[in-house]
Amino acid sequence: MAMTGITAGPFDAAALRADFPIFGRTVHGQELAYLDSASTSQKPQAMLDAMVAFYTTSNANVHRGVYTLGIESTEAFEAARDAVARLINAPSRREVIFTRNTTEALNLVAKTVGSERCGPGDVIVCTVLEHHANLVPWQVLAQQTGATLRFLDVDDQGHLQLDRLDEIAREGNVRIVTVTHQSNTLGVRPPVEALVRWARTQGALVVLDAAQTVPNRPVDVQALDVDFLAFSGHKTLAPTGIGVLWGREALLAETQPFLTGGEMIRSVALDRTSWNTLPWRFEAGTPAYAEAVGLHAAIDYLEAVGLEAIDAHEHAITEYALGRLGEVPGMRIVGPPDAADRGGVISFALDDVHPHDIAEILDRHAVCVRAGHHCTQPLMQRLGHTATVRASFYLYTTPAEIDRLVTGLLDVRRVMGV
Ligand SMILES: Cc1ncc(COP(=O)(O)O)c(C=O)c1O
Repeated sequence: MAMTGITAGPFDAAALRADFPIFGRTVHGQELAYLDSASTSQKPQAMLDAMVAFYTTSNANVHRGVYTLGIESTEAFEAARDAVARLINAPSRREVIFTRNTTEALNLVAKTVGSERCGPGDVIVCTVLEHHANLVPWQVLAQQTGATLRFLDVDDQGHLQLDRLDEIAREGNVRIVTVTHQSNTLGVRPPVEALVRWARTQGALVVLDAAQTVPNRPVDVQALDVDFLAFSGHKTLAPTGIGVLWGREALLAETQPFLTGGEMIRSVALDRTSWNTLPWRFEAGTPAYAEAVGLHAAIDYLEAVGLEAIDAHEHAITEYALGRLGEVPGMRIVGPPDAADRGGVISFALDDVHPHDIAEILDRHAVCVRAGHHCTQPLMQRLGHTATVRASFYLYTTPAEIDRLVTGLLDVRRVMGV
């Protein structure tokens, strides 16, 4: 336990907070109620310590130096890859590619595999639930290749509708199906299994945006049977600047590189270059190796706490929050009304008060929430909102923070005179 930096015993969110130094500070003289983890997570001391220790004792560029520091640094970087492979149950470490974030991972797939496989007469299937990071790259790909981009709709609560699949399939060859594992705006979890089954009948590849699930529940790429999966380190207790693309080895092996330059080559002549083997052929330039060390420490921490326990905690806290928010007059939950099929994210509106006003007044109570379209403008439009307030939870979220959100919202009503 000491290695991972966990100070709590059996799952106890209040005790786990002691591992996160940011909760030691106050805002406007009050303890933090940090309810914006869907945007980014806070960082445990163990992760911060691992990065400082690495920079203090082992820093050197990776895959270059044959001296001790360079060897240590390379070993630490590659050990992080093993930790990621273990976390998502990847069959091979060669399938784990470090990127800057989810956005870059999804762009990598669209701009390599996507542009190689899509053309006129082909269909890309996306959904209106997606974060812009899993929508815009496919829009651009369709524009550049002449492929048709089709969106699966949701019902008024955000549940993905699969009834148009066969109609879409009649429009051409379905090449790619891409979907979020959990909506960052509504918390709703789409029926990925059914979508994968359908994609297989079409011979299509499946891309899963797991930015909102790798941080908080067990994610197994083999059980999911998808072809590509992306997530961000910064939402997973790790630093910014590192993300992951996992892809099936056979597919990656036959795909041309994304970025070119140092690291990703085997040999370079003035008129031709041959590519490195996997995974390095997709990692051009100096990688975020110190951030990878941080990600490794974050994964150790998450695994020591237990991803099933984290998922169960988020479910319980979401249920509690939905109940407590229901006590606030004028509250309108946007998305599924119950906790059954959602993760720890709740979007809401309060009477006609502008979400930015709500977020600002909540800040006076040191309650941090996000207000806006949450990088899901098409979803907002579909649901008839321009913006919502979003509260999102993680392993360190406590019922006391939810209570403070509710107290803050009652103050919003008072201040705004509604
Ligand atoms: C579902 C989802 N996909 C993609 C992203 C983009 O992640 P990043 O900004 O780390 O690339 C986010 C970030 O909020 C997200 O929630």
